[in-house]
Amino acid sequence: MLSVCVIDDDKSQREVLKDFLTDLGCEVRTYSRGESCLEAIKKRNTDVVITDYKMPGLSGIETLEKIKQINPQIQVIVVTAYGTIENAVKAMQLGAWDYISKPIEMDELEIKLNRIKEHKTLLKENEILKEKMELLTPETDIIYRSKKMEEIINLIGRISNRKSSVLVQGETGTGKELIARTIHDLSDRKDENFVAVNCAAIPENLFESELFGHEKGAFTGADSQRKGRFEIANKGTLFLDEVGEIPLNIQVKMLRVLQEEEFQRLGSSETISTDVRIVAATNQDLKTMVDEDRFRADLYFRLNVIPIQIPPLSERKDDIPVLVDHFIEKHSHGEHDVEGISTEALDLLLKYEFPGNIRELENIIERAVSLVRGSTITSEYLFLDSDEEIGGQDLNEKVANYEKSLIKKALDENNNNQTRAAQELGVSVTTLNYKVKKYFD
Ligand SMILES: Nc1ncnc2c1ncn2[C@@H]1O[C@H](COP(=O)(O)OP(=O)(O)OP(=O)(O)O)[C@@H](O)[C@H]1O
Ligand SMILES: [Mg+2]
Repeated sequence: MLSVCVIDDDKSQREVLKDFLTDLGCEVRTYSRGESCLEAIKKRNTDVVITDYKMPGLSGIETLEKIKQINPQIQVIVVTAYGTIENAVKAMQLGAWDYISKPIEMDELEIKLNRIKEHKTLLKENEILKEKMELLTPETDIIYRSKKMEEIINLIGRISNRKSSVLVQGETGTGKELIARTIHDLSDRKDENFVAVNCAAIPENLFESELFGHEKGAFTGADSQRKGRFEIANKGTLFLDEVGEIPLNIQVKMLRVLQEEEFQRLGSSETISTDVRIVAATNQDLKTMVDEDRFRADLYFRLNVIPIQIPPLSERKDDIPVLVDHFIEKHSHGEHDVEGISTEALDLLLKYEFPGNIRELENIIERAVSLVRGSTITSEYLFLDSDEEIGGQDLNEKVANYEKSLIKKALDENNNNQTRAAQELGVSVTTLNYKVKKYFD
């Protein structure tokens, strides 16, 4: 139902319109002056104002302008005298929905109002749709464009508040840790700790104490009490990175803790209860490890309640252009004023396979940003062909290319630190600097 205001200084005209509009099912209020209508629309919900053009006090045009200032969503129909087309044009320019000339044809008015009704319904549907979309796709720091990633983001939005364990699998550099952190950040645990444990980095004999903590004197070298990761992560999220590396004997203990939600510090008989959300990640195929008895099936099932498989970058190339822009922006601060990438260079990236996935893409862009002269990254600064057979016409050219690829590799491995790269190559910084200029300028 539309809520309509009628402004006309002619009483009989007001009444005719009111009767007609009421019959159409509108809620109608009438005013003899623009001023009083303006006061009313500030307080009451209004969809449409039908205003006469010529009135004492504020004219129809002035009223229209003020209505649009108060609430641009209100649609205005201006009633003009027959034959005054300039007035109609002016009203349209000032944002009127439409105009209608006197004497008012009621059929015509009905059509115009129906159109406003449709427009309103459409706007509402749009809004609902937008709300739904926002609900589905949460705000994150993850950069993507591909459908595959969008599905993953929607999934983590839906499951972030559940306590079920998540197992994130994907090749190296695909963003497993980023996904794990995002799950935590989207959850109602976000104000508690996110504790990351790199299971590949803990020596086997220290595993238990690392996870569950120990009392002073629990073993040689335990000279003070120490909280384990489970305790620190309490009420938050425990991220078990490289989970495939957990030794088999620890897997048993881990499973028990996950099932019973309690544990003891080493050397203590006190039981501590724990409330942690587990997110585990691996770039190994855990299922195969289970089949080969290198990972316990029961722990695998316990962790794999919500599986997330992140596709390699080569299977979601749509993400490459947005990631490139993102990394250019991230790394071109201060001295490097890089704005973009050439079409040819982007094409090269789109053809490249990225064994190191997004981490590799970031390294490539970071290096290009630091070496490029000018504001656009061009193909030669990507160094994507260095692993292929060394090109070149003759010995000199081949040697030069080989030298170039060695320098590139050394810079790469040393985060573009020329001092360290020079050390690694066994040349002076001056020499390296000279060669960098020679080859990469
Ligand atoms: N979609 C993305 N948007 C922005 N940055 C990303 C994205 N994916 C990954 N990154 C960045 O790439 C780098 C590698 O990601 P991350 O460490 O999460 O990968 P990983 O899968 O855990 O790798 P690994 O298997 O080597 O541990 C990080 O710096 C991360 O922030
Ligand atoms: Mg990782």
